[in-house]
Amino acid sequence: MEDHKLRVVLLFGGRSGEHEVSLNSAQSIFKAIDRTRYQVETIGINKQGQWFWGLLPEALIKEGFPPADRTHQVTLVIDPTNPHFRALDGQTLPNQGQIDLIFPVLHGPYGEDGTLQGLLEMANVPYVGSGVLGSSLGMDKDRMKAVFREKDLPQARYLTLLRSDLLRGRETCLNEIEAKIGYPCFIKPANLGSSVGISKAHSRKELLDALNVAAIFDRKIVVEENINGQEIEVAVLGNDSPQASIPGEVKPAQEFYTYDAKYSDIGSSVIIPAPLDEALIARLQEMAIEAFRAVEASGLSRVDFFVTPQNEIFLNEINTLPGFTEISMYPKLWEASGIPYSELIDRLISFGLERFLDKQNSKISQD
Ligand SMILES: Nc1ncnc2c1ncn2[C@@H]1O[C@H](COP(=O)(O)OP(=O)(O)O)[C@@H](O)[C@H]1O
Ligand SMILES: [Mg+2]
Repeated sequence: MEDHKLRVVLLFGGRSGEHEVSLNSAQSIFKAIDRTRYQVETIGINKQGQWFWGLLPEALIKEGFPPADRTHQVTLVIDPTNPHFRALDGQTLPNQGQIDLIFPVLHGPYGEDGTLQGLLEMANVPYVGSGVLGSSLGMDKDRMKAVFREKDLPQARYLTLLRSDLLRGRETCLNEIEAKIGYPCFIKPANLGSSVGISKAHSRKELLDALNVAAIFDRKIVVEENINGQEIEVAVLGNDSPQASIPGEVKPAQEFYTYDAKYSDIGSSVIIPAPLDEALIARLQEMAIEAFRAVEASGLSRVDFFVTPQNEIFLNEINTLPGFTEISMYPKLWEASGIPYSELIDRLISFGLERFLDKQNSKISQD
């Protein structure tokens, strides 16, 4: 039986600001994954982006990455006829490094943004989650909003500017934002996550500071109007027929849901199910699925909303690889909707394989 198990590689760590979150998500998956069905291998990616075979998330959380010369750096071989890893030091990997599926447990740039997914497509490896297009649309707040707008999904008023616009004419940018958005407003680098580089500005002075901060992180910046409301999140699971979970609410301990409020503030709390009436819940679930379809996500996503005291809904964003620790919102929402954590992992793997097979059925040339 042993050799019938699916060989799954958990891939975690990475170059983004969400490196530590990724290690925690990976540790939870590593502990809970059904070993009667899967043979689990691990690859840790350090902050420089080097990949190392066999590192365990728990050890990395406690001790950090070992020096590169004391562990086995590996590379994914781009051979669509035989997807496998190879150790750069020539060491033989278990099962010649051959694998059946990759479970990327990576958040943010170079994990959640389509770049990794492109690499996996080139190597012809099945993987969990969205493909290149879904991942990159889900990552880029400006393009995400554009496809949401195309589907008439309600969103906060926003505008997008480039770092180069700011360098060319600071005053023009400030004037345009004041005219079209006003205060308070949110300033966000287009392509990060975990609130990194995000500020709320209440005045021209704060706006300028916020734009300068966002410009450190991205060449593209999104500015949006402030929405006063509850922060509501819905989990989506599936491929072509996605399902939505019951909604949950996050109550940030700070003025908004900053990096600290997300990961270190004990004060932030989560309420599942969110205290909302049935009609509103149904509408949120419908919109979560519409958002999932709009960016062409697959496998999993968490869709985040604001709901005002007048029950007006605004779509905030979609996260195609949301936090996945046992206490993260995404798995918690499914648990409350009847899918326990290790079954959720099973389903995600099945959806990854399904998507891979679906793609294999499409020809890429005439002959
Ligand atoms: N338009 C807005 N109105 C009110 N609060 C906002 C708005 N945009 C963002 N926020 C606050 O900032 C947090 C982070 O913004 P978000 O767009 O979700 O970025 P990230 O991708 O980093 O999570 C949100 O969870 C919310 O607390
Ligand atoms: Mg968010």
